Parts: sequence; C-alpha cells; structure tokens
Amino acid sequence: MQLKFLPSFVKRKGRITKKQTQSLTSLSEFSVKSIQEVEYISKQFDKCYLEIGFGNAENIICQATNEPSSLFIGSEVYMSGIGTLVSNIKENKINNIRIFSDDIRLLLDQRPKKVFDSVIIICPDPWPKEKHHKRRLINKSFLKMIHDFMKDDSNLYISTDWENYAESISESFKVNKLFKPSSHKPFQKDSLSKFERRGIEEGRELFEFNYEKLL
Ligand SMILES: C[S@@+](CC[C@H](N)C(=O)[O-])C[C@H]1O[C@@H](n2cnc3c(N)ncnc32)[C@H](O)[C@@H]1O
Repeated sequence: MQLKFLPSFVKRKGRITKKQTQSLTSLSEFSVKSIQEVEYISKQFDKCYLEIGFGNAENIICQATNEPSSLFIGSEVYMSGIGTLVSNIKENKINNIRIFSDDIRLLLDQRPKKVFDSVIIICPDPWPKEKHHKRRLINKSFLKMIHDFMKDDSNLYISTDWENYAESISESFKVNKLFKPSSHKPFQKDSLSKFERRGIEEGRELFEFNYEKLL
C-alpha cells in the first residue's frame, strides 16, 4: 500500500492495559472523522482547540477540564494513549473532548475550513538522526496545511526539547511567512508533559514557539 505521508511517528503497540483495551471499544462515541464534523460540534462551544500527538493525554485532560466552554480535539495514533483518554472522558464525564485517532494530516487533507482557535503540539517526535529528518511532522508544508484550518488571529504553540529540531522549526516559520511570533501562549500550561519532563531530566533545553496566524 502506498502511504500518502511519510510516517511522522513510530506506531508503538506498547503495553496496553486491560482497562485501555476495554475503553477503546467505546472510542467511536468520542471520535471525529472529518473536518465538517469538527466544525459542526464546535458550534456548541466558545472556542475550538486542536492538540496534535497528545501522548498519555495529561495535557488535553487538564486543559479541557479547566475550560469546559471550549472544545478540544485531540489527535493521536498511539492506542494506549487513546485508551487512557477515552477512559478518563468516561470516568470524569468530560463532554468537551473529541478524538481523531489517526495521522492528523489525514484530517487536514480535506477541503480547508477555518475551525481552530489554537493548535498545540507538545514535543513532536524528534527524529534526531539526520537520515530521519524527513519524517519530522513540522516543516514548511505542514505549517501551510495547518494554517488553512486555523481561524484568523489564531495561535499555534509548539515545544521541543531537541535543539536541532527547534532550529528547523524556526527556519520553517521564517521561510513560509504565514505566522508571526506572538507573546501570547494560547493555553495555561501549569505542568510539563511526559516528554518535556524526560527531555529536561536528560539534560536537554526546552524550546517553545508561540506564533500567531497571519492572513
Ligand atoms: C514524543 S510524543 C509526545 C507526546 C506528548 N505530547 C508529550 O509531550 O508527552 C509524540 C506523539 O505524537 C504522536 N504523533 C506523531 N505524529 C503524529 C501525527 N502525524 N498525527 C497524530 N499524532 C502523531 C505520536 O504517536 C506520539 O505519541
């Protein structure tokens, strides 16, 4: 099968618990499959956030709980993380999270609609070896893709603990001129994510990008 995009993730099966497997049976209740669906559901909320690669779902759960009047779309391919999120949604009766359980580029490969007020990407897979740089999610063409789905004056937040990735993200912003640096962080970030914590424990610096969409 010919893949449309070079995978930006390692499809880890990981250890999946019984609880996560059980939760995954109700994934469809909380799933979105198209941008039209996102647009339709978002009309019931004040704002619409997109978190790409939510991992163990710590951040999206925290943000969605703090801001119940906003809709949070979480995108992830990692099944145990998706299972954790579904079980939290059910246990805590969270009604403002929906899940796109596939490569985000498949959602963004549809006719653009300006639906997102903020897009959040915390520690995208770094692909540190040079021969793998082409697998990195954030590049010029991805920024163009995401730009088309963001509302005017919306925000994009990215963090990475890999200096070389930070340099290439910075370069991508510079060349495509679709965003400008902003002093505004689109969400209140009270704690570090699992991968941010790991990077700092391993002695790496955390680089953050707050950008605002230009028309
Ligand atoms: C390094 S982990 C970071 C997880 C979490 N944000 C954190 O900081 O703890 C990157 C995550 O992005 C997900 N990911 C990578 N490419 C993706 C894509 N194209 N669409 C959706 N998720 C993706 C991976 O499955 C992985 O769980």
